[in-house]
Amino acid sequence: MAELIRPDERVRESFLAAMAEFRAEGRGDIADRTMVGQEIRDYRQSWDTPEGFRRFVAGLRARALEGTPRPEGHVPDTTLWWVDGSEYLGRLAIRHRLTPILLELGGHIGYDVRPSARRRGHATAMLRAALPVAFGLGIERALITCDDTNVASRKVIESNGGILEDQRTNKLRFWVPAKISPLVDHLVWGQIRVSGFGNLKDAKLFPGGAREWDWAETGTRHSPGIQPADTDELISHGATVIVLSRGMDQRLEVMPDTVRHLERLGIEVHVHESREAVKRYNELALTRPTGALIHSTC
Ligand SMILES: CC(C)(COP(=O)(O)OP(=O)(O)OC[C@H]1O[C@@H](n2cnc3c(N)ncnc32)[C@H](O)[C@@H]1OP(=O)(O)O)[C@@H](O)C(=O)NCCC(=O)NCCS
Repeated sequence: MAELIRPDERVRESFLAAMAEFRAEGRGDIADRTMVGQEIRDYRQSWDTPEGFRRFVAGLRARALEGTPRPEGHVPDTTLWWVDGSEYLGRLAIRHRLTPILLELGGHIGYDVRPSARRRGHATAMLRAALPVAFGLGIERALITCDDTNVASRKVIESNGGILEDQRTNKLRFWVPAKISPLVDHLVWGQIRVSGFGNLKDAKLFPGGAREWDWAETGTRHSPGIQPADTDELISHGATVIVLSRGMDQRLEVMPDTVRHLERLGIEVHVHESREAVKRYNELALTRPTGALIHSTC
């Protein structure tokens, strides 16, 4: 299953094959003003060696940091790669804030999918996964622009809730709500992988983000189980439906007070064994502001 990761030198071989595909469709030529074209021109020499590629990856990661030197007028950006195992499929860059030119034309988020992986839903899923990451960077609504002739990109944006504001020159400008619940990519014993947020042992999931669920913060134990206080953060982030997991072996209990407390607030509650909880959460998160507490062991 495809997932968003930070740039990683382990996918070099597949990344290079993808760049060869982009070059075959004319990207990287002097007249090509796209994100991938610029990257091909700037870095293609350094990709030739593993060491050069390592520096490229480190440079991409550093661009997200406020203190990294950058050209005049550029803002920090977070690049994420969309991969399936070691196969590179595409890339997305989130600019942390808008400059006048980004507000006019460039927008917050740019993306591309390698030619051989197109028309399989990757761009739509990749943008879906990136929106809560953007929210975590302080972007409540992401401005995303596309050429008025780019049917595929327009569909990607609209499928993710984009609302057209206007057209400036040939660019359509859409605002996309970013405060959505992240999806869980997979759950195995001791590990929950959350799209765009990496691996967590136990997870708190909510509209606009995810983080490690540290039981010590509220003194929670398997028995009497999940307390009302464990759900506070999910509520404060606007969850209107909450999934509570019982653990893989259902050893984690849920205090009756917790369910009563949530129901009194008008919040719909679902309690399930952890695998079932993840399945339910992923279904609900597609359409509603959903929160969850997922325990990945017993
Ligand atoms: C635009 C791009 C990212 C789409 O990637 P993708 O993974 O093929 O997109 P998806 O598979 O999620 O398809 C999204 C929708 O567009 C449609 N679509 C995809 N390619 C299409 C094409 N060439 N013509 C018409 N429709 C197309 C799909 O059928 C799908 O429609 P649906 O939502 O009705 O099912 C990819 O074509 C690309 O990288 N292009 C070059 C770079 C670029 O244009 N980036 C966007 C800059 S704003």
